[in-house]
Amino acid sequence: MGRLEGKVAVVTGGADGIGHAISKAMAREGATVFLSDIDDGKGRAAAEAIVKAGGKAEYVHCDVGSDADIKALIEGAVAKAGRIDVLVNNAAIAIGGMPVHEMTDEQWHKLININLTSVFRGCKHALPHMIGQKSGSIINMASAQGHIGLDGWTAYAGAKGAVMSMSRQMAVEFGPHNVRINSISPGTINTPMNVQVIRELGEHVARAWVKMHPIGRIGFPEEVAEAAVYLASDAAGFTTGIDLKVDGGLTAAPRYVPDLV
Ligand SMILES: NC(=O)c1ccc[n+]([C@@H]2O[C@H](COP(=O)([O-])OP(=O)(O)OC[C@H]3O[C@@H](n4cnc5c(N)ncnc54)[C@H](O)[C@@H]3O)[C@@H](O)[C@H]2O)c1
Repeated sequence: MGRLEGKVAVVTGGADGIGHAISKAMAREGATVFLSDIDDGKGRAAAEAIVKAGGKAEYVHCDVGSDADIKALIEGAVAKAGRIDVLVNNAAIAIGGMPVHEMTDEQWHKLININLTSVFRGCKHALPHMIGQKSGSIINMASAQGHIGLDGWTAYAGAKGAVMSMSRQMAVEFGPHNVRINSISPGTINTPMNVQVIRELGEHVARAWVKMHPIGRIGFPEEVAEAAVYLASDAAGFTTGIDLKVDGGLTAAPRYVPDLV
């Protein structure tokens, strides 16, 4: 029997990268997964592949920049499946690599909307159902970047730090309703987001990433997915208000990397 048998999970940004790996892993463990994204082609293909492999998944278009889309995603899942046990607020974008004084207001607001306000929206629409059920697990995707500094990523780090502190706050507030709220902070993970960053900033960034992780490599989306499965499962029934680092030791390491200077 799978670790998420009978549970209903909603994942944002599930067409690719970490969200895709989480969707696959949760379906493998028996959950019915509502996989959402703005990339309808990849999203549909991802859900179809899960079904083909014997899992339960459905694709839903959802732009996390839109409150109406997130409401429709969550209300639709509850209408179809009768409940929502797990919400993974995963979708985010990378705008950075520039000093904060070169960032425009428009870039700032776009990043905060997609990476932070989206988490508020997801929680806002899922919580009434979870409180009513007297159970639920919300997993918010934070980042190592919310723990340590890296030149050029002020807005991204600000959003991720806020995701972590919001998650802690809500864990306290909704613990009495048996709703658990945790965040995950991945280190550098091999996903399309980072392919984009390397394209924009150069190959030297990829070499530096490997050296920054004491484990000697960057991570795989599946390694983050295993952490999400744990937090979603009843095995984590007494775990709330934590930030689970899946970062190859990145945030444990000193920032001085001899080979790089
Ligand atoms: N990759 C990393 O190294 C890393 C490290 C730390 C944290 N994270 C976090 O993990 C999460 C997933 O990152 P990833 O690397 O898999 O990203 P990714 O860019 O590879 O994939 C993100 C997915 O989200 C979708 N998406 C983008 N904008 C969206 C929107 N407005 N609404 C809905 N979906 C949207 C994309 O279409 C894509 O399918 C993000 O929250 C990211 O900040 C990633």
